[in-house]
Amino acid sequence: MLIYDFSNLLEENIGEKGLPGAFLEKNKELLKETDLQIKQKAKEGIFGFMHLPFTPLALNQIKSLALEARGKWEYLLVLGIGGSCLGALALHRAINHPFHNLLPKEKRQNLPRVFFLDNVDPELINAVLDTIDIKKTLILVISKSGKTAETLSQFLLFFQEIEKQGNPKEQIIIITDPEKGPLRELAKKEGFTAFSVPPNVGGRYSVLSPVGLVPAALLGIDLDALLKGAQAMANRCQALDNPAYLYALTHYLFLNKGLNIHVLFPYVHALKDLADWWRQLWAESLGKEGKGPTPIKAIGVTDQHSQLQLYMQGPVDKVITFLTVKSYQHTVSIPGGFSEYPDIAYLGGHTFNELIQTEQVATEAALTKAGRPNAKIELDKVDAFNMGEFFYCLELATVCCGILMQINPLDQPGVELGKRYTQALMGREGFAEERKEIDQFLKRPRKKV
Ligand code: PA5
Repeated sequence: MLIYDFSNLLEENIGEKGLPGAFLEKNKELLKETDLQIKQKAKEGIFGFMHLPFTPLALNQIKSLALEARGKWEYLLVLGIGGSCLGALALHRAINHPFHNLLPKEKRQNLPRVFFLDNVDPELINAVLDTIDIKKTLILVISKSGKTAETLSQFLLFFQEIEKQGNPKEQIIIITDPEKGPLRELAKKEGFTAFSVPPNVGGRYSVLSPVGLVPAALLGIDLDALLKGAQAMANRCQALDNPAYLYALTHYLFLNKGLNIHVLFPYVHALKDLADWWRQLWAESLGKEGKGPTPIKAIGVTDQHSQLQLYMQGPVDKVITFLTVKSYQHTVSIPGGFSEYPDIAYLGGHTFNELIQTEQVATEAALTKAGRPNAKIELDKVDAFNMGEFFYCLELATVCCGILMQINPLDQPGVELGKRYTQALMGREGFAEERKEIDQFLKRPRKKV
């Protein structure tokens, strides 16, 4: 069961920067009001993500697709960006072997090698073309709007490659809005297999919809366990003092105290990409109207040797959340030896498990002693069930924090202008005004050295 431990956010443990012990009591009414709003928005279908664990879309169809695909494809290429990529990527990296693509087929349990192509850097695109055998590749094109330039340009390229050497109808699967957008139209016209993203589920909240479930199933992830984890969390969140609301409330209160940098610090290497998923969710949902936290990702223990100095002695503007597991899948011993060197010898006879867990506790203790707010999300282990719990918990925490901040956590109006300028520069019709603006911008003299 996922636990949110907020002890080291309290005054009694970190001194004046902390929250008073009675913060929950004091904010009970606010939380009750927020909870009512959340439940109302769920009922009205505005918070569509809250229904996904209980009524997953096309689950049986997704499972059959995965069954059929097993062993058939050498490569899986996932074309999508932002919310249309990060959830599935996080799941794959959390659960599958860290060097999945390097393993021989039997060790990959007949699963395909996978590339998540969430950038349009020509070197990256070229490298993928160089690496895959297009005839043996299944391609997922994931875009809720069906209009995202990055994903569509990749689609154009890989469609052309498959047309030359393969079978587009068999090799391309589309995941998009059920009715709207060019990808839906195209899927119908070309006869591609297609799955729907519920219209009331936004990109970054869509990991438990076909956006996350289709790639996850193709990568061997247990969808039932994933959804069960999310259901368990949703059921726990019926009560007011649940981890999602507490995470949201504590972070909101620190935001009000000027601590607007929020760090997620997993001490599990496999959860590195889960921190990316959270970072997008927290940033894109909460950063607007001149407000919002800046989310930072750090990895334990690696970033102890990179960011920790700042966290310990820099400005007190951060709330750090460790993400830990009770148990790792493997235990690896550190052999003894070199007993004549005390700097080395003390490590022998322990395990790497002890070392990473000890370093986390030591860092937590040091931050606490330095009066730095820090909390902890503890998972039992890394598996599909725990990922389901985590996804749902942080999605709910995000909308809860958004309501507390009185902003809309579902939109992202700030990314539109850059998209319009791009379309204007790429010569799209109907963008004359933007073209004028961007041309003026480009003509401005630059100061350079
Ligand atoms: O969370 C969001 O809404 C965004 O990050 C989108 O997922 C991202 O922009 C991709 O959009 P689309 O799925 O329409 O291609």
